[in-house]
Amino acid sequence: MSSTHIVEAVADLLRHADHVAVLTGAGISAESGIPTFRDALSGLWAQFDPDEVATPSAFERRPELVWDWYAERRLRILEAAPNPGHHALVEIERRVPRFTLVTQNIDGLHAAAGSRAVIELHGNIRRVKCWREGTVFEVWQEGDVRPPPCPGCGAWLRPDVVWFGELLPEEGLRTAWDAAESCDLFLSIGTSNLVEPAASLPWMAHDAGAAVVVINPSDEGQRRGRGIHFLPGRAGDVLPALVAKAWHDEPSAFPPFRRERGRGAGPPSSN
Ligand code: OAD
Repeated sequence: MSSTHIVEAVADLLRHADHVAVLTGAGISAESGIPTFRDALSGLWAQFDPDEVATPSAFERRPELVWDWYAERRLRILEAAPNPGHHALVEIERRVPRFTLVTQNIDGLHAAAGSRAVIELHGNIRRVKCWREGTVFEVWQEGDVRPPPCPGCGAWLRPDVVWFGELLPEEGLRTAWDAAESCDLFLSIGTSNLVEPAASLPWMAHDAGAAVVVINPSDEGQRRGRGIHFLPGRAGDVLPALVAKAWHDEPSAFPPFRRERGRGAGPPSSN
């Protein structure tokens, strides 16, 4: 099948789906200027060893270095804006009866685009939490002492992200599993599918009978087979094209929208 035919087939699935589940990875934010992890040249793990910056023991050994590494990433992320890929997912959410968005990204760009109820499996760099008690803070004081002390107990603050060797949020993971098992269409966007448990979600959905669509410029690490559609390309190009094809209109400038409860697929609202 040609690329155009695949887009048409996937648009058709999208238009008729009852429950669309989506998993995103670093690739969807690449066009917002945020580096991925495993790109051979620009990827974060090409330049830094995850054992030195993204594990609890790294933080215990060198808290200042780890704090500074995340502070630098946070600055870059705060300067970034959602791109057409993020906005297209907002459009899809608005048009399908049921929608579940699961992300491995810690950048908060789905919420910034207007996506609702995003399941952030790896946390969010825009928050910090107490290293000792786990209390989460959205606002905190930066000073000369790094990491800054928890206002409650004085222990170190750390980024509210999931490090290697840590557990993922239980409720979010359960919701993601349920969505994979109950959706009829699963979109896997911009992820290398290498880090579990998120990596298994598309294949769980496939095994449960959903159609799976992989959107990625590279097919490395992606499964092939019946019921798995590969749409090669950048999320910021492919997703708006899909939305346009599915609902026969332009994806527009995507003003922030308010979803009306219980509303199914239908024409876009005028606000
Ligand atoms: P990776 O860096 O492993 O993979 C990024 C994927 O995005 C690759 O498959 C690229 O081909 C693809 N990609 C690049 N540009 C794209 C674009 N414009 N549109 C669509 N796809 C594009 O990132 P993740 O799969 O997200 O975890 O990595 C998973 C986890 O590993 C991360 O959450 C992080 C990392 O270590 C932790 O830090 C715990």
